[in-house]
This record gives sequence, C-alpha cells and structure tokens, in this order.
Amino acid sequence: MRRKLAAGNWKMNGLAANLTELDAMKAAAAADKVDVLICPPATLISRAADAAAGSSIAIGAQDCHANASGAHTGDLSAAMLADAGASHVITGHSERRVDHSDSDADVAAKSQAAFDAGLIAVICLGESLAQREAGDTLDVIGTQLAGSTPDSATAANTVIAYEPVWAIGTGKVPTLEQIAEVHDFIRAKLVARFGAEGDGMRILYGGSVKPGNADEIFAVSNVDGALVGGASLKASDFNAIITALGNA
Ligand code: 13P
Repeated sequence: MRRKLAAGNWKMNGLAANLTELDAMKAAAAADKVDVLICPPATLISRAADAAAGSSIAIGAQDCHANASGAHTGDLSAAMLADAGASHVITGHSERRVDHSDSDADVAAKSQAAFDAGLIAVICLGESLAQREAGDTLDVIGTQLAGSTPDSATAANTVIAYEPVWAIGTGKVPTLEQIAEVHDFIRAKLVARFGAEGDGMRILYGGSVKPGNADEIFAVSNVDGALVGGASLKASDFNAIITALGNA
C-alpha cells in the first residue's frame, strides 16, 4: 500500500508572517491518515522546520543544484537544504524547466544529488498545451520520466508529480479520464523499469487542485496525492485537501 501524500508548493510566496498558516495545518496533519509536506521558499525552510517540529508536517525545498558544493553563486546544494531542515526537494518543476532551462538530464542530476544528501526527490513531469493538442502527451511524459529519473530511484527516495503545464495556476483541470490515462501510463513505466520499487513510488497529480475538486481527483486510479500550489498557501484550503485525501 502506498501512503498518500498531500504536498504544498508555495513557489515564490511567503514571508515569516505566513508561517502561521503552517501552524494552522498541524491539526489536519495530525489525523495521520496521509503524509503532509510543505515546500516554502528557501528563505523559510529553517524557520518552517522549526515551526513544524513535533508535528507530522515535513518541509521541503523547491529546487537544488546538482553539485554538492562549489562556485555557483546564488545556488543551494541538496546538503544545504537538508542542513536547513528539508527532507524533500522538488525537482523538474515546469517553472524551473521553463524559467531556468532545466533539461531532463539536469533534473536527473539534481534528483541524484537529492538522494546523495538523504532527501526525497519530488520529480515533476508535464506536457504543455501545444503538446497535448498535438496528441503528444504520453510521448512527452514518457521521455521526461525516463530522462529525469535516476537509475537509483526507489519507492523511499522518489515521488513523481504529474503536472500538466496548462493546468498550473489556470483553474483548468484535465478530465478524470485524462488524469487516469497519464497516471496509469506513468505507473506502467515505473514498474517496467523499477519493478516493485516502481509500484511503491507515489504519483501525485498537480495543477489547480482545490478543495472543490480534490475528492474526485483523489478517486482516480494511481493518484496517490497532490502537489498543490495556490491552494497550499492558506490552511483553510490545504486542510480541506488533506482531509479529502485522508478520506479517499
Ligand atoms: P496550482 O495548484 O497553483 O495550479 O500549482 C500547481 C503547481 O505547480 C504545484 O507545483
């Protein structure tokens, strides 16, 4: 049985004052039916880890450098993120792939760096609207999955997140059939490559998940949770998503 995961990606949002939201998520997380992860901006990781101490909320980062240290001004290594209190790191988010030209090889190298530092990588995949309309979705996802996932990935160190680019922050959500098609495809590829470990990896859906659509998305086959952007910023929304996942 895969334990479900409700993950929040705060993106470039959040100042110290917003950690009160994290406090207000502790009660929902304490139901202990699902794993809960919040990925605040790097500036807040240490304070978020302190705020979450003693609760079941894990803290993650949103990106890491592929190298362990060195002359890379402005970058953060996976070991630094672990040192600050992170247990997870998102790799290959479409906003990094677009804004910072992260390739599949970069994402694989970052994910390997995460494993080496003892972090769990949340590896993101997703097709653009043009790719979906051209009928290329499964080809794109298959290529990204193969190229972005290190050979050393296991059920313990890897979470996959399917985030269609056109559904992120737009309020547009794929049909449940479209979500099932991609998640089932990812599962088959993971099992073919990693065997039982691939069967144990969580596959999250991300893209405009809200309290109002969480129930139906969580009922889809091979959806093991969500990677939530906007609706993870407020405890009132994210707690409802945690509860929906616990009831799924
Ligand atoms: P939204 O939930 O705001 O659409 O963002 C999804 C996402 O990109 C999470 O990583």
